[in-house]
Amino acid sequence: MKLFMAGLTLFMATAAVRAAEDPPLILQTLMTQRIAPGADTLWAVGNRAMTDEGDVDATRLGPTDWAELREAATDMKAAALAMGAAPRIEIVPAGTSLPDGGATASEIRALIDRDPAAFSSASRDLAEVSEQFIAAVGTRDSAALSEASTRLNAVCEACHAKFWYPES
Ligand code: HEC
Repeated sequence: MKLFMAGLTLFMATAAVRAAEDPPLILQTLMTQRIAPGADTLWAVGNRAMTDEGDVDATRLGPTDWAELREAATDMKAAALAMGAAPRIEIVPAGTSLPDGGATASEIRALIDRDPAAFSSASRDLAEVSEQFIAAVGTRDSAALSEASTRLNAVCEACHAKFWYPES
């Protein structure tokens, strides 16, 4: 019995430590595992709605397309809101670094720390455009879908230009 209680106490102590140390959000993981794949899905479905003339015609999409769109946009919105609300976000997993080309992880850290409000605001823009996709799923509206696809591109670019490629 004593041994059981000791084990239980140890278990509870470990659980408390875990709760206190929620794993930090990692920007690169968020980008590569959720935001980029989600955007690929949104763009791919948008392309399926495209006529040969390059117009978006929402009637070309079937129920599976709309379901796919809704799922991707819903996850993108959640990821964007988490990114915007995180009190502190790690740039890369501990002990790794970013590929050459853009800013280094510590440069990005400094850029975000210098203007956290702009980073949150750019994250909220991504949540908003996700919401536009969700609304387009509701209305099946071609113009709304077209506008959301165009805006999505601009929202990714704007944040990357400020926080990833500030020199270019
Ligand atoms: C709020 C800012 C922000 C928004 C919005 C944003 N990104 Fe990023 N993204 C970054 C930053 C900063 C980096 C560079 C650091 C890194 O790679 O994590 C990055 C890196 C990436 C990478 C490279 C990851 C790697 O290291 O291999 C991809 C791919 C990417 N973003 C895709 C997207 C797409 C697609 C969108 C829009 C749907 C988007 N991002 C929106 C900030 C943002």
